Amino acid sequence: MDQKLHPCSMVIFGATGNLASIKLLPAMYHLEAKNRLPESMGFIAFARREWALDDWLEFMKLALQNKLGERFDNAIYERFAARFSYVKGELHDVESYRRLVEELGKPRPGVCSNVVFYLAIKPTEFTAVINNLDVVGLNKPRGLHRVVVEKPFGEDIESARMLNELMHRHFNEDQIFRIDHFLGKETVQNLLVFRFANTLIEPLWNRNFIDHVQITVAEDIGIGSRADYYDKAGALRDMLQNHLMQLLTVVAMEPPPSMEADALRDEKVKVLRSIRPIPKRAIHAHAFRAQYAEGIVNGKQVKGYQQEEGVEPNSATETFVAAKFYIDNWRWRGVPFYLRTGKRMPRQMSMIAVRFRHPPQQLFRETSTEVIEPNWALLSIQPEESMQMEIHSKQPGLGMNTRVIQMNASYHTGDEVSMDAYEALLLDVIEGDRTLFIRFDEVEWSWRVVDPILKYWEQERQFIHTYPAGSWGLHEANRLFDTEDQEWRNEL
Ligand code: BG6
Repeated sequence: MDQKLHPCSMVIFGATGNLASIKLLPAMYHLEAKNRLPESMGFIAFARREWALDDWLEFMKLALQNKLGERFDNAIYERFAARFSYVKGELHDVESYRRLVEELGKPRPGVCSNVVFYLAIKPTEFTAVINNLDVVGLNKPRGLHRVVVEKPFGEDIESARMLNELMHRHFNEDQIFRIDHFLGKETVQNLLVFRFANTLIEPLWNRNFIDHVQITVAEDIGIGSRADYYDKAGALRDMLQNHLMQLLTVVAMEPPPSMEADALRDEKVKVLRSIRPIPKRAIHAHAFRAQYAEGIVNGKQVKGYQQEEGVEPNSATETFVAAKFYIDNWRWRGVPFYLRTGKRMPRQMSMIAVRFRHPPQQLFRETSTEVIEPNWALLSIQPEESMQMEIHSKQPGLGMNTRVIQMNASYHTGDEVSMDAYEALLLDVIEGDRTLFIRFDEVEWSWRVVDPILKYWEQERQFIHTYPAGSWGLHEANRLFDTEDQEWRNEL
């Protein structure tokens, strides 16, 4: 069994779901376009619908056309489509898995070794799939195949541990790829370079120079057709426990001894372990949640969360969450990390904003400049991928006036096309590189951090603040700030 050989097949559980249509299939198609898919590789779409292969292909073509628009190319599509087969199956039905075994048994061109099982399904279904793979022997021989698990991994710390135990009963750790696609985003990876390849930055990256850190992931979209999953999850489980916490670890981690998968993950875990636990009585001061009401986004009237199809009446599920964490270690003690994420905000904007401290002396106080604004380092993740530093310079002319200029440290030039996060990560799965995947102790420590908030909110299901869709949330979220001069930064 050679782990270096490419997979023969990737089975997509949940092939007709939202994630597959919006992210996975387009990413795979792009890899096809770039000739990055191994020749031997086939895909098996596993879904419930009573379909023949042609029906599936029609569905997939439409999904790709919707997503790619003018970039859709029929010749590439034909090549891509030729790799597919379709297995009609129920996740809970063992017979379906027997059909899968049969399909996987069909000969493939080229030399290949393992199968990748991609669980693009609701977290509540993970257990059924893992158990059924075992029943039909698809986890054998032990150590060979790969399983990709989407987030959230579990719904709280206990269920995450149970899921992990179950997975380890059937798979070795190096077969498990816990995906957090934010780690595949270019700016996130570039943050590592920004911090650890520049002697200019790292000496300033600590409590002596940094006032606070803000991590924002704002989306203009609502929950679409995902109420079934989202209404039980909410923004804390859907985004903050995983994506935002991962961003926090990359901002705060110590330089690892090497860029090896485990060296990197060890440092991330140290950060998570150092996050000060939030006691129950302090939840209110550390976390804020809200839900979108109807409003206007990008000039269009949109429904409130309660009116979305499939949402429970009077649901108190949060679509916006803001939280404050302290990392009690040598580097960060006393520096607040403010995290926030929300749906139906005015626009898509994901950014890490680091505010530096004021200079020790306001030398220009006697001049027309008065108080100088602090410096910021701004790392925009999307829609732009950019990095800039805000610094002061003198305005040309007679007076002693300063102005803020933005030093652009973006690595992107206009004509360079970056890879989509899922493309990069799927390629890693195919090649067996786990560097950008999550180890279980990261998941566990990250649940430990958010668990007190989850448990507290679960007891308070009667009331939730609402914000009009298309706004930046509510003034109440400002109660998290430690000082009066701190405020959310909504612009680059
Ligand atoms: C997913 C969440 O993990 O990330 C979605 O489940 C969210 O709710 C999405 O919309 C955001 O990812 P991206 O890459 O589109 O910013």
